[in-house]
Amino acid sequence: MRNQQATKLLFEMSRPGRRSHHLPALPAGSETVTDLLPAEQLADAPPPLPELSEGDVVRHFVNLSTQNMSVDTHFYPLGSCTMKYNPKRNERMASLGGIVDVHPLQDDESIQGMLQLLHELQGMFAEISGLPGVSMQPAAGAHGELAALFVAAAYFADKGETSRKVVLTADSAHGTNPASAQMAGFSTKTVKSGPNGLVDVEDLKSKLGDDTAVFMLTNPNTLGLFDAQVQEIADLVHQAGGLIYLDGANMNAILGITRPGDFGADLMHYNPHKTFSGPHGGGGPGAGPICVRDFLAPYLPGPIVEEHAGEFRCVNPAKSIGRVRSFFGNVGVLVRAYVYIRTYGKEGLRKVSEDALLGANYLLSKVKHFLDVPHGDRCMHEFVASASRLKKEKHLSAMDIAKRILDYGFHAPTVYFPLVVDEAVMVEPTETESKETLDAFAEALFRITEESDDLIQDAPLSTKISRPDDVTAARRPILRWTDPAS
Ligand SMILES: Cc1ncc(COP(=O)(O)O)c(C=O)c1O
Repeated sequence: MRNQQATKLLFEMSRPGRRSHHLPALPAGSETVTDLLPAEQLADAPPPLPELSEGDVVRHFVNLSTQNMSVDTHFYPLGSCTMKYNPKRNERMASLGGIVDVHPLQDDESIQGMLQLLHELQGMFAEISGLPGVSMQPAAGAHGELAALFVAAAYFADKGETSRKVVLTADSAHGTNPASAQMAGFSTKTVKSGPNGLVDVEDLKSKLGDDTAVFMLTNPNTLGLFDAQVQEIADLVHQAGGLIYLDGANMNAILGITRPGDFGADLMHYNPHKTFSGPHGGGGPGAGPICVRDFLAPYLPGPIVEEHAGEFRCVNPAKSIGRVRSFFGNVGVLVRAYVYIRTYGKEGLRKVSEDALLGANYLLSKVKHFLDVPHGDRCMHEFVASASRLKKEKHLSAMDIAKRILDYGFHAPTVYFPLVVDEAVMVEPTETESKETLDAFAEALFRITEESDDLIQDAPLSTKISRPDDVTAARRPILRWTDPAS
């Protein structure tokens, strides 16, 4: 028996006069609630809102939520933009009264506890990255990229080097890198990867010049490879007068093992949803804290928390680019990151990365027997397989694999990214997954490669919605369930 609430719109379920609340009686003399409101603020007619009982609404949304896959319901091997499991302990801590009841307009004296927490977190981000200046304002990784590029622009403007207008990005970079650079007012040039999937240093050299502002590097890169040329790359960029930006989306692979500040980065962002188990949410409301070298710290977006003789106060850096977000950014997300880091401690964080590497390499060692993995036998925290051969041999594309794996009860891996791999299938298991889960996922992938084309090209077969954005959707109705009453 299917669930009506999950399929019908709230508007379709609406019945006149049905309510989930009762308002208090109107004061004597008022006929309707509109008598209490100023006439100029009234619309001609009440808005056409659905009228429903509380039960209808609760069931509607709970049922809808069960049609989705999430990190709390399924293995979520989405490479690159991975959502790491959010421990429930962090959620409990972040909802303590002393945290959620703080108002950002309170004065510094009355929120010393919160400011202390944020100050400690700034210190943790600085220590983990090896970069001392920290701003926690940005609301997502991409927002951090943008804010940091504004910082770089302000730094070059201050030095009178306004001709530095070019940001170099790797061809394996996340699309947010060139997009952020353009939004920050730079033009972009792409640096090629070599056949080994790492930066082609000769190509980089040919693109460096007096106009170079920043090279945005992802390390480990989106192919799941650590670029050991990084020191040489940083030296080349610095000799040309530019800065190295580290897209820190893949910090989960190197926590406590190496630090961007130690291998030459000048600026970076963290993705707490991939590293410190913060919520994400479509480019925000998450967090994308940025860290910079000390000579760039005066340009950071404020406020920053400073400590003076045991007192914490908010300050704006001397040459700050200004705010990029209201108040401190998404403090609730930052609190979760704080709890995560405090829970694991130094040794624990290193173990997180070691386990992430172990899980990814274990999975890679299984998957490479039936899917090509063009760049290496070993990986960091993720790897990129290719369905290119399968597509030629049996018309099985990366998209087909992503759709069919839903029928096996797994969230899809990332597909068609990075662009440098044809028919890319990008897998990031993260450290919290058991051997049993990884085995079951590998087994499912293997079975898919053995299945008939017809079956797979119609997949997913078990979900309520099939392929709404795909030509094969034309072969079946998008919504499989039809209301018996209609
Ligand atoms: C390599 C890389 N860079 C940048 C981003 C952008 O981060 P966000 O989605 O938090 O904006 C992502 C996504 O997680 C990513 O994987």
